[in-house]
Amino acid sequence: MSVILAPSLLAADFSCLDRQIAMAERAGAQWLHLDIMDFHFVPNLTFGAGVVRSLRPLSKMVFDAHFMVEQPEKYIESFQKAGADYFTFHLEAAADPSALIDRVKEAGMKCGISVKPKTDVKALAPYLDRLDLVLVMSVEPGFGGQSFMEHTLEKSAWLAEEKAKNGYSYLIEMDGGINRKTAAKAVSGGVEVLVAGTAVFGAENIEEEVRYYTGLSIDR
Ligand code: DX5
Ligand code: ZN
Repeated sequence: MSVILAPSLLAADFSCLDRQIAMAERAGAQWLHLDIMDFHFVPNLTFGAGVVRSLRPLSKMVFDAHFMVEQPEKYIESFQKAGADYFTFHLEAAADPSALIDRVKEAGMKCGISVKPKTDVKALAPYLDRLDLVLVMSVEPGFGGQSFMEHTLEKSAWLAEEKAKNGYSYLIEMDGGINRKTAAKAVSGGVEVLVAGTAVFGAENIEEEVRYYTGLSIDR
């Protein structure tokens, strides 16, 4: 199985999103990672469902929306309509994670939960059997361009073990500080979906960079 690459739009040139997306897609990126921030859960603000709706017809990539927001339930309807495929919320922001999973699935989207670097990944145990994705944050959420936190590899390893042991079907995704060096560690530690912002959109040759990551294979 080969790695799924989800370039993060956060690091793209916002004056020409259409061209940046086309470049990543042409080179073989399978997913597009969309970071939604609300200036409350994290000290930064990005874009909303309107932008996602405008981008949807431009691409066949899987739209992987990562909600770094308080009250994520308020975003379900508008992002489903806008064309999000995956709806990933933060465990730390959810009053009732189980009810939220139900609502996301009822809306017809795949559901993921993300954990911040300091959150115990084992807190996800009650939800793992119903998740399509688990997103391990390898930097503090809020900004691109930060350094990868090594201890988060223990979380992906635990998720990979649980998945193998129990036959769970979630994909394991890692986000933050992914570059050629850290990607190799993540993939050998069980990560199946790599999010990369700066490494892809900050590269001199975006297409070559995309091909590097999508060419990595998962040895299992
Ligand atoms: C950070 C976001 C990331 C960000 C990653 O809060 O969730 O998706 O774009 O950026 P890089 O790859 O530059 O660390
Ligand atoms: Zn993200």
